[in-house]
Amino acid sequence: MINVLFAARPERWDLYEGPLRTALDAAGISAHLAQEIVPAQVDYIVYAPNSSLRDFTPYTRARAVLNLWAGVEQITGNTTLRIPLARMVDPGLTTGMVEWVTGHVLRYHLGMDAHIVNPARAWVPTAPPLARERDVVILGLGALGTACAQALLGLGFRVSGWSRSPKDVAGVTCFHGAEGLPQALAKGQIVVTLLPDTPATTNILNAETLAQLPRGASLINPGRGPLIDDDALIAALDSGQIAHATLDVFRIEPLPQDHPFWAHRQVTVTPHIAAETRTITASEVIVENIRRGEAGEPFIHLVDRALGY
Ligand code: NDP
Ligand code: OXD
Repeated sequence: MINVLFAARPERWDLYEGPLRTALDAAGISAHLAQEIVPAQVDYIVYAPNSSLRDFTPYTRARAVLNLWAGVEQITGNTTLRIPLARMVDPGLTTGMVEWVTGHVLRYHLGMDAHIVNPARAWVPTAPPLARERDVVILGLGALGTACAQALLGLGFRVSGWSRSPKDVAGVTCFHGAEGLPQALAKGQIVVTLLPDTPATTNILNAETLAQLPRGASLINPGRGPLIDDDALIAALDSGQIAHATLDVFRIEPLPQDHPFWAHRQVTVTPHIAAETRTITASEVIVENIRRGEAGEPFIHLVDRALGY
């Protein structure tokens, strides 16, 4: 019998207890799963970065922290954490992100806002171009960025991507590293940011890089707020360099009521809902890592603490 601590906000327990028990049973793992266990007896920690658990020092026999979120920026710097940290790569979350990103790309591509809100009753009979005439760039070609790229390719878009290391994704024009960023940005009629929040990606979209996008570009950020210099974005929106931005994530969440993004007519704010971890598929991912730990196999989706993702 192993001990699995569920360290997340109490309301998440009601959602996860059943799926985690089902996944443990299906894997044939006998486990005591609870929200409170004597720290020195815990074998695995299922973790949400907004839980109250911050000091991992007393968890002397724990083998891994298994994150319920894809983003790990709130935990990578925790110096009390000295055991492996796995992040969430959940097929359900990925599907949600693909649907959200595809929806907003199509919205920009088809110019839908102009017809949905048209108080002047303007009759401008200009049909949109075809997807094959539209460049979309995805900054971040990881689990989520690659899935979005493939879905957009399937719709016919010309898709480019940018990552830290070289990538080969069929049909996607891939750029990498600092030297590849200007080339990637030049393809960004529509740009989607699916990068993690790390020291290397903070303000990756700033006055200089926003200026490297084609004039009138549209921006979709479901990644993390600090990827964008807010003031530089507002200046780029005001100048027309960026036509419109859809922002799901912010430096401070909830986005403060007096933040200029709320009132800006070229900004759509969504409340960090692009993609949610789905309890059934996420529980299967968590339990697969517990199974691996018990079998002495390498964990999957491990975070590189030095890189911060
Ligand atoms: P991954 O770790 O799988 O992918 C990250 C990608 O970013 C990789 O392609 C990586 O490059 C690239 N990258 C990282 N650092 C750099 C850098 N310095 N320069 C260039 N490229 C870089 O993450 P996911 O795809 O699973 O998730 C991405 C982010 O999405 C999460 O970190 C989270 O912040 C956000 N998210 C938001 C949600 C929402 O609801 N809004 C929901 C879930 C996630 P390489 O491939 O070379 O390693
Ligand atoms: C995540 C998120 O990181 O929801 O999973 O943003």
